[in-house]
This record gives sequence, C-alpha cells and structure tokens, in this order.
Amino acid sequence: MSKTIIITGGAGFIGSHVVRLFVTKYPSYKIVNLDALTYAGNLENLRDIEQSPNYYFEKVNILDADSLNEVFQTHQPDGVIHLAAESHVDRSILSPLDFVYTNVIGTVNLLNAAKQFWKNDFNGKRFYHVSTDEVYGALGETGFFTETTKYDPHSPYSASKASSDHFVRAYHDTYDLPVVISNCSNNYGPNHFPEKLIPLFINNIIQQKPLPVYGDGLYTRDWLFVKDHATAIDLVFHKGKNGDTYNIGGFNEWKNIDLVKLLCQLMDKKLGRQPGESEKLITYIQDRPGHDRRYAIDATKINKELGWYPSVTFEEGLAQTIDWYFENQEWLKHVTSGAYKQYYERQYSK
Ligand code: NAD
Ligand code: DAU
Repeated sequence: MSKTIIITGGAGFIGSHVVRLFVTKYPSYKIVNLDALTYAGNLENLRDIEQSPNYYFEKVNILDADSLNEVFQTHQPDGVIHLAAESHVDRSILSPLDFVYTNVIGTVNLLNAAKQFWKNDFNGKRFYHVSTDEVYGALGETGFFTETTKYDPHSPYSASKASSDHFVRAYHDTYDLPVVISNCSNNYGPNHFPEKLIPLFINNIIQQKPLPVYGDGLYTRDWLFVKDHATAIDLVFHKGKNGDTYNIGGFNEWKNIDLVKLLCQLMDKKLGRQPGESEKLITYIQDRPGHDRRYAIDATKINKELGWYPSVTFEEGLAQTIDWYFENQEWLKHVTSGAYKQYYERQYSK
C-alpha cells in the first residue's frame, strides 16, 4: 500500500535513522523530510539515501504555520511522524524559550496543519508524536516508568516535551485526531551530535581533552541503540493503537561514571593507548541544575502488544558507534566547528 509521510526533524540524530529506515523499507511510500536545519540538523546524515526516488526534503521551520500548510497541500500526507525538537537539556537551561517555541508552539502548529488538511476525515490517517522518558521525572534506586506514571518534568526541556505530549492528547480527546505517542529512553549511535554524553566523550577522548562528568557521576540512564528506536517507531506508526502511549527503552541501565570508564577502555584499545590512559581525562565538574537521578523504562507494553525488543547489545552498539566516529572524522570536524565552539566554551568554562 502506498502512503505519504511527513517526518519532521529528519536531518537530526534519530530522525535521520527513521527517514533511512522508511525510505529503504517502504519503496512505495513517499517520505518527506521536513526540517529547519538548526545547529542539530545536518543533511550529511542522509547522503546515502538523498537520491532515492521516494525521498523529498522541505526546509521549513515548524514555527512557520503558513509554510507548514503549504507543505501539506503540496505533498498530501496520510501520516506525520514528529521528531523535530530542541533536544538538549543543557541548552534548555541556557535558553528555555527556544524550547517553548519549537517543542510546544511548533508541535501545536503541526497538529493544526494536520487537522486542517485532513478536514476531520481521519480514515487511514495518523499523527505520531515522538517523545521522551524525561517527562516522567526522576526515579530513586528502584522502580520503572510505565505508560501510566504521572508526569513530573524538571528541566525546561522535559517541561516543554511534557507540554507537547499534553497538546497531542488534547487534540485526540477534543477533535478525534488519530494520534499515537511514544516515550523513549536515551539513544546512542552514529550521527549523534557531540553535545550529548557519549559522542561528546568519544570526541574529547580522541582529542585528549577533559571528560566533564557532572556531579558525583552516579546518575543513571537507560541506553538504547538508535536503530532499535527507529524499528520501534516503525512498529508503533503502523500497529500502535490510536490514542495510546508506548514506552520504549533499552533494558540497559548504566551509571554515568561506569559508562564513561567503559568508553575509556574501548577507546584506549581502539587508539592503541595504554590501558587507563583515557580515564585520566575524567574531570568531575559542577552538577547540572535539576539533574534527574535515574531514568529506567518498563517497555513491557510494546514488547507484549507489538513484539518489539532491542536487537543490538550494548557491547555491539557501542563498538559500532565508536567505529562510526572513527570513520567519520570529517563529519565530526564539520559539526564541531563554528557555533559549537562557542556553545562548548559557554557550557564548560563555568
Ligand atoms: P536532534 O537535536 O538531533 O535533532 C532535532 C532535529 O529537529 C534537527 O534536525 C533540527 O534541525 C530539527 N529542528 C529543530 N527545531 C526545528 C524547528 N523549529 N522546525 C523544524 N525542524 C527543527 O534530536 P534527536 O536527539 O534526534 O531527537 C529527536 C526527537 O526524539 C526529539 O523530539 C526528542 O525529544 C526525542 N527523543 C530523543 C531522545 C534522545 O536520546 N536523543 C530520546 C527520546 C526522545
Ligand atoms: O532520556 C531521554 C533523553 O536523553 C532525551 O529526551 C534527550 O533529548 C537526550 O538529550 C537525553 O537527555 P540526557 O540529559 O539524559 O542526555 P545527555 O547525553 O545530555 O546526558 C546523559 C547523562 O550524562 C546525564 O546524567 C548528564 C550526564 N552528562 C552529560 C553531559 C553532556 C555529564 O555528566 N557530562 C556532560 O558533559
């Protein structure tokens, strides 16, 4: 069956993996990547598929409601998979309003564009909002986030994502818009922008720069390989129930400091350095304000209802990720020049 799907944020980290999966797995679908190309958007992420006959790119900001309406008229989509967002917690602490604009207002613009274009004929239509486990707040030493865990966001980023989730549900409850939401844990893998823990530390280890661990380093995250998130998104988009939420996680909890030490060991091997050399770069610095202690997802529902389970072990995923950064030094150079240097200085010279 043929479909036209708008994927927002398709030039970003997760979005580029979702676009690639859909373009290659569904040659009969028309895939429209709608992205404003902010600092985090990079068409180099999609070089291998950009000539595919079923791939289209629209450089549009989701804050621009008129242009969104035009894209809907031009491409006549049956579905939207919405990933465009400001996604970095530390930047949300520096500039919260940017997160309100893109994540809240941008999402409502997109909901309006879909509702208006589909004119209440929702048969075969779907609006899929990709969200985060951070909306649930922080866990103590035990327990997991389920789909019914109460929202309790602590950073401007997670507050903006929680707000966008509420708007998506409100459009379902008020206008019957056929929506589905997923809340996923921390992703890692190729094309990850080096402002986030894993790619930032890989880059700094290569350059023998300090590895800035926030606070006591005992914060816990649940890591999922990005391609496994993309396969979950494929399943939820096609088989998820309208109005439902699906939690997606890696069954893979790591304390930051243990993960950083593992990364140092793997990188020492890769770089032919003495064991223990990269660990010397670890530097404990001032904690992130409002830092959530622990995230952990209970992904039972998506496993039971849709048969999804992560396919890549952390060992394999980290090895693939490290290899990718070694093979893509040019990509790394491009994204760490210019504005990145100013951000880095502002964030880490406090
Ligand atoms: P990213 O920062 O790598 O990419 C975001 C993309 O959105 C970029 O291509 C950027 O150009 C685009 N964008 C930003 N503002 C825009 C605007 N106003 N209009 C149009 N495009 C705009 O983000 P990511 O890490 O790939 O995350 C994608 C989505 O998944 C986000 O919604 C995020 O909240 C969610 N998520 C991320 C993770 C994670 O670990 N990275 C985990 C769970 C959920
Ligand atoms: O849980 C899902 C979320 O995961 C996504 O919604 C976000 O978009 C994504 O950025 C990510 O958020 P985190 O804040 O968990 O990811 P980050 O890589 O920024 O940080 C991971 C952990 O590492 C966190 O406890 C903070 C710590 N950290 C991070 C950086 C950048 C450090 O100790 N030092 C650092 O320099």
